[in-house]
Amino acid sequence: MSPAQQRALEEGWARWGVDYSPQDLLTPERLQTLFGRTAPLGLEIGFGMGEGTLAMALQRPEWNFLAIDVHGPGVGALLKKLAENNVNNVRVMRHDAVEVVRHMLPQAILEGIHIFFPDPWPKSRHHKRRLIQPPFVELLSERLKGGGYLHLATDWQDYAEQMRVVLRAESQLENTGAGFIERPDWRPLTRFESRGVRLGHGVWDLLFWRRK
Ligand SMILES: C[S@@+](CC[C@H](N)C(=O)[O-])C[C@H]1O[C@@H](n2cnc3c(N)ncnc32)[C@H](O)[C@@H]1O
Repeated sequence: MSPAQQRALEEGWARWGVDYSPQDLLTPERLQTLFGRTAPLGLEIGFGMGEGTLAMALQRPEWNFLAIDVHGPGVGALLKKLAENNVNNVRVMRHDAVEVVRHMLPQAILEGIHIFFPDPWPKSRHHKRRLIQPPFVELLSERLKGGGYLHLATDWQDYAEQMRVVLRAESQLENTGAGFIERPDWRPLTRFESRGVRLGHGVWDLLFWRRK
């Protein structure tokens, strides 16, 4: 972690950080206290260095965002950006998102979920480590409100196909076409996407909704 990220983490955690505590469900009342208001809640899993999180928070001031990653330097980098831009509508967790979703998020609480460029684990023997697996997608779908969305993006074609198969098999979700959508203009360009594009990778976006 750079000294600036370390400082941002120390100084910013009290304002933007949320500790992992499985006994404290993030109920609407608790979210109201954490954010200081009630607003549609977006979840971002694996924000990396947080450039996409910052861009979305500024684009959509009417939403609250819960951003989760396990990577310390990235958490420091995001807190630094939040401080520099005096952002009020983001709260940050440094923990395994699977545990957070399972133990701290109540059902039907989320308006939208963003998982952009999750670790691709390209080797076949590592595919089981990929985040997008049927049990986790079932859990995520339960946390969405009716009409809420799950938006995924990846620059690995076989992971994109796996995502499509998993999402289409989840009965709580629906989509309007083949599963893939054109890259939406509003989706911020992240570090990993830029890297993938530089390497000549394609990019696949998937958008599904929780049935009403
Ligand atoms: C390939 S990076 C993509 C980062 C960012 N979304 C981007 O597009 O630049 C994947 C991120 O997911 C995080 N991650 C992986 N597994 C996670 C988990 N179980 N819970 C939370 N974050 C996770 C990693 O620490 C990493 O920052």
